Amino acid sequence: MSGPADSPFSGTFREVDHPPLKGEGRTANGGPGWGGSHAANAEALPPPPGPLTRSDLPPPGGGEVLLSIENVSLSFGGIKALTEVSFDVAAGEIRAIIGPNGAGKTSMLNVINGFYHPRQGRITFKGRTRPAMRPYEAARGGIARTFQNVALFRGMSVLDNIMAGRTLRMSSGFFWQIVRFGPALAEEVAHRRKVEDIIDFLEIPHIRKIPVGRLPYGLQKRVELARALAMEPDLLLLDEPMAGMNLEEKEDMSRYILDINREFGTTIALIEHDMGVVMDLSDRVVVLDYGRKIADGTPDEVKRDTKVIDAYLGVAR
Ligand SMILES: Nc1ncnc2c1ncn2[C@@H]1O[C@H](COP(=O)(O)OP(=O)(O)OP(=O)(O)O)[C@@H](O)[C@H]1O
Ligand SMILES: [Mg+2]
Repeated sequence: MSGPADSPFSGTFREVDHPPLKGEGRTANGGPGWGGSHAANAEALPPPPGPLTRSDLPPPGGGEVLLSIENVSLSFGGIKALTEVSFDVAAGEIRAIIGPNGAGKTSMLNVINGFYHPRQGRITFKGRTRPAMRPYEAARGGIARTFQNVALFRGMSVLDNIMAGRTLRMSSGFFWQIVRFGPALAEEVAHRRKVEDIIDFLEIPHIRKIPVGRLPYGLQKRVELARALAMEPDLLLLDEPMAGMNLEEKEDMSRYILDINREFGTTIALIEHDMGVVMDLSDRVVVLDYGRKIADGTPDEVKRDTKVIDAYLGVAR
């Protein structure tokens, strides 16, 4: 990839041919939505002409602001994890949050989904402004996430873990769910159908009955993504979804992320250390360093920014 000779953004992802994306040629953001089996639909489609990267895709849908972070600061005792950070996420885009270790990226996601309450600042999601989110408000409002370290029920099957992601969507009361009768039974059948769609979409039907703890790490990450998708989120927060994966697994995960964004119109905020992946997938990138925002722009703008290059190369400040 291009860039200064000593650029830290020398990920290998772009050089590798992607397998054809399943959704290519179909609708862009806001397409067929969550109904139907995507894997089955994909069979009939011709493969795309060549490797597909973010720059080949249509601009992010809508463009209106879905999430706005204003002046957010967060401290842990004397440690300033975030200092007056502001940025927004437009509906339909893939927004990357990058920065060196300890820059505050995970803390930012934790603020967005209500795990941490900022000391200062405002969060506006879908037009509603709050000083802080609460986790249940974030989840009910349509924010789902995956974690830097996989957080699944290791003893439970893949299917049950993904079903757990749908509990928020279940409307019948606890009593009916326990007896699995009447409205709860009909509802559970509908939810199972959705979950099966997601399992097909992420190509994991062969492991659906296996306890998650027995799966290799790369597949656990995919199951965690499936569980987040089961919430049918408007905003999906992904904390290093490709950490610990080999090249092939990274390519697969990149393809799923693009497909989710294009086929379901899901807005995605993504933390990732592999700069090749970030540059290929994201519409815009916000860069944090020592808890402060140091750059914000398109992948091309950000990778040429001297402050960003210095931060990654560890130039003494
Ligand atoms: N729960 C916590 N208690 C105390 N300090 C914390 C806590 N969470 C984060 N920090 C501190 O806040 C800073 C930002 O951490 P954070 O995990 O957000 O960074 P990050 O950018 O996600 O890093 P990495 O790339 O290593 O995952 C670090 O100095 C970290 O030690
Ligand atoms: Mg982190």
